[in-house]
Amino acid sequence: MLKGKSLIEPNDLSLEELDEILNLADKIVANPEEYTDVCKGKVLATLFYEPSTRTRLSFEAAMLRLGGSIMGFSSADSSSAAKGESVADTIRTIACYADIAAMRHPKEGAPKVAAMATDMPVINGGDGGHQHPTQTLTDLLTIRSLKGKLDNFTIGICGDLKFGRTVHSLIKALSRFSSVKFVLVSPEELKVPEYITHEILKNNNIDYKEVEKLEDVMGELDVLYMTRVQKERFFNEADYIRLKDSYIVDMEKLSSAKDDMIILHPLPRVNEISVEVDKDPRAAYFKQAKFGMYVRMALIMKLLGVEK
Ligand code: CP
Repeated sequence: MLKGKSLIEPNDLSLEELDEILNLADKIVANPEEYTDVCKGKVLATLFYEPSTRTRLSFEAAMLRLGGSIMGFSSADSSSAAKGESVADTIRTIACYADIAAMRHPKEGAPKVAAMATDMPVINGGDGGHQHPTQTLTDLLTIRSLKGKLDNFTIGICGDLKFGRTVHSLIKALSRFSSVKFVLVSPEELKVPEYITHEILKNNNIDYKEVEKLEDVMGELDVLYMTRVQKERFFNEADYIRLKDSYIVDMEKLSSAKDDMIILHPLPRVNEISVEVDKDPRAAYFKQAKFGMYVRMALIMKLLGVEK
């Protein structure tokens, strides 16, 4: 039963609940016109203490396309956080006005603190370098829709695996499906945190390897998940400048890739994928952004307990 729940990290959802959301998203993709007023009278608040294009606007588009209303703020500066208000007091106030909230915050755990302070469903829209569960729902819907399954495939995850919260959530979620092999491609300094390799991958006997060169593994991959080097999480600008262009996928690098591999990226892109790749049929990152809106429509309906 998803009604009234918050979503803070991917494994807050059981596999059955995940399936429910993805199945509803499939139905919405097939017939969006059947859902245009199911959330009439409901209000979504988007509380974004950090910049966002896709997450905030796809949540807002999702609620508007369900017939509901939206309100919120897009930076901490334009809320009373600038005057020192706590996340707990903010969410208690927002719960007086809205039925559901999506929150992005630079501090890890802030959406969880919010969820503990209210009965209103709170959705984590990204907390620091920690988790981004609705990006993961987006990624899972995209993979399932384009590859037809969420098991028995090899995924290469490339770039900033240390600070990339989408990576942490995706590994956590995909590790629950059978025979998913992970190829983790990063410079030494940006390797995936040890709690992920130990608690998730090693403890569950999941097949994975860590490499530095993307070209060496390109031909093995069914899904290539590129990520941006997260400038905002670096303490030292010189390190960012040295690492930011570690990986740039272009047509030459793709020459050894499988014909049916799909290329994903949570976006925003900086230099990680050359724009010439956008025309390649394997490039799926803008389709992925659209799936993000549909899966958030499904998630809002489920957490509000709204039926068609
Ligand atoms: N994928 C993602 O989180 O994008 P935004 O930062 O634009 O929301």
